[in-house]
Amino acid sequence: MRLDVFFTPNQVKPVETAGRLVLIVDVLRASTTVATALGNGAKTVIPVEGADEVISRSKEFARSQILLAGEQKMHPIAGFDIGNSPQSFTAAVVEGKTILITTTNGTRTLLGVQNARDIVIASYVNFSAVLALMKVAASSSTDVAIICAGEEGSFTLEDSACAGRYVRAIPKRADIQTNDAAAASVLIEKKYGDNIAKVFKESAHGQALASAGFGDDLTAAAQVDSYPVVPIYQDRQITKLGPERAR
Ligand code: MLT
Repeated sequence: MRLDVFFTPNQVKPVETAGRLVLIVDVLRASTTVATALGNGAKTVIPVEGADEVISRSKEFARSQILLAGEQKMHPIAGFDIGNSPQSFTAAVVEGKTILITTTNGTRTLLGVQNARDIVIASYVNFSAVLALMKVAASSSTDVAIICAGEEGSFTLEDSACAGRYVRAIPKRADIQTNDAAAASVLIEKKYGDNIAKVFKESAHGQALASAGFGDDLTAAAQVDSYPVVPIYQDRQITKLGPERAR
């Protein structure tokens, strides 16, 4: 089986996702936010391409059922209910709600994936839950692609370190083939280990978020397994994989 990492979404060819389990990693912050929202009882998260589409899709719902969410240049979008700070997605705010969300890199990366077998949202906060699904894929020799959202087409340290944590956690087997980015992601992960705060401190987006006053988001995003959910994207929406939708 293949276990490949892609440091940016633009490196991925359609053939590299077809039939695979695909993990989307945008640790700061879209993946973390989606896992937090579903972990806190949101009904569903609908990722869309931009703010205008959030507005147009919102007309399909009663206003009380939905939250308009997302960021532009890290900040909440004017007129929306909520930005992209994971800890704003508390149970009191999100329980039972449909969340329409747009973000700069995370949602775009997700929407670009073609013909995958399953697409799940991965981060540190739901690490072990997604890893369990990956292990099932590995045991049935299903190919896996881990796609880092990156930043406007560029490499990001935090997504690559998180990808490496997933790769490293899959026991080595002679029949598992990895690409060079997977090997490199493991080297990055080994350098930082559990010091995720250091990854964020040394990453450009982590520094930008801290300077913009979103330092608490970094703390939330570093809490491994704080939201043990598997967010799965199907029929243009993300819901929590549960026993009724087990793979
Ligand atoms: C994104 O999707 O680009 C991000 O999650 C940006 C952010 O909210 O910091």
